[in-house]
Amino acid sequence: MNWEKIRNDFPVTNNAIYFQSAAMSPIPNQVLDVIINAFTRLNQFGDIHFMEDLIETEKLNKILATMLNTDAENINILPNNSFAMSLLALSFKENIKTPFNIVSMFDEFPSNTVPFEYKGITMKYVEAENSRFPIENIMSKVDKNTLAVVTSYVQFCTGFRQDIETLGKELKKRNVLFVVNATQGFPLFPVDVKKCNIDVLTCSVHKWGFSGHTGTIFYTSPEFREHFASPIAGWLSVDTNNELIYTGKNVPFSLHGSARRYYTGTYNLQTLIGFKAAIEYLNNIGFENIRYRLFELGDYLIKKLKEAEIQIVSPVNNYKERSAIISINMGNKLNVKALTYLETKNIFTSFRFEMLRISFNIFNNFDDIDKLIEALTELKKAN
Ligand SMILES: Cc1ncc(COP(=O)(O)O)c(C=O)c1O
Repeated sequence: MNWEKIRNDFPVTNNAIYFQSAAMSPIPNQVLDVIINAFTRLNQFGDIHFMEDLIETEKLNKILATMLNTDAENINILPNNSFAMSLLALSFKENIKTPFNIVSMFDEFPSNTVPFEYKGITMKYVEAENSRFPIENIMSKVDKNTLAVVTSYVQFCTGFRQDIETLGKELKKRNVLFVVNATQGFPLFPVDVKKCNIDVLTCSVHKWGFSGHTGTIFYTSPEFREHFASPIAGWLSVDTNNELIYTGKNVPFSLHGSARRYYTGTYNLQTLIGFKAAIEYLNNIGFENIRYRLFELGDYLIKKLKEAEIQIVSPVNNYKERSAIISINMGNKLNVKALTYLETKNIFTSFRFEMLRISFNIFNNFDDIDKLIEALTELKKAN
């Protein structure tokens, strides 16, 4: 694999040493071309090519469905993860009339928790144990009133990757809904919604989707849709028997049986076309190759951090729990200082939960890591 050639697809590497992909991955040249082309057609032809664009995005749903091991009719795109979780919170409130709670993790990104708390749903949080969430600890929080477990596949701060297959099996036995936010994992790390018994999956693709702010993938199982009526609807939600626009007023209507019911209204086809190109781009490199590279870079980073005696907060001993995020702790005051000091060296990391988060990507190389470690060592020595 020629990783230096791939690095050239990302002009960000000329401008910065970029370890911020868990905030947002940059767009590679090939994907940018497709997005520019999609907007140029809008510029030159207005809406004339709307149908072709729609067909492209329907193809995207098919591709995503295959990757997630489901059917395209179970997938749609929502504006963001917060919206998706809000929709779930409303759905739970409207459809469940007996007391219930949701079990989630203490480390969750707030878009996984605020929507439920806002609707007054009882949340039970599992505390982290060395930045991990052992399945037995999650199951010990589940009680007879637990409606769902809501978890990230990969925790946004520590990069801990949950064993969602085993967790899904346990929840299935207890008849508890399984809601997974795959934002910090998918598509680089695969998810099989059937094998994992996932009822609802979300994935905000601006993190690892290489196409900017595109929205969140929203998977719902047919059983979920059968039991939980949609709490919201818009003109695109209505089953019109193939008529484009629903015009009825005060006439009973029903929503699509498929996940199309959640589209509600118009959405941005141009960036979705970009996301399709991004998936194709990644697929050309090969997802196995990508994961191999991420583990290789991760191994090197871990080795160098250990040599520099910098504390690694992320659980890194088991490849199955690793992702493309590694967080470090240089001590309370030094973590904040490190962020700004690194920026003076043109190295970009993130400050999350009082830690320094390093997220590496296919365009990073060993030299980037060396420069990072060099700067951190300098800072450590000076303080
Ligand atoms: C795990 C996780 N989920 C979701 C988001 C984003 O949420 P939203 O799509 O609501 O902006 C982030 C980061 O911004 C995240 O790290």
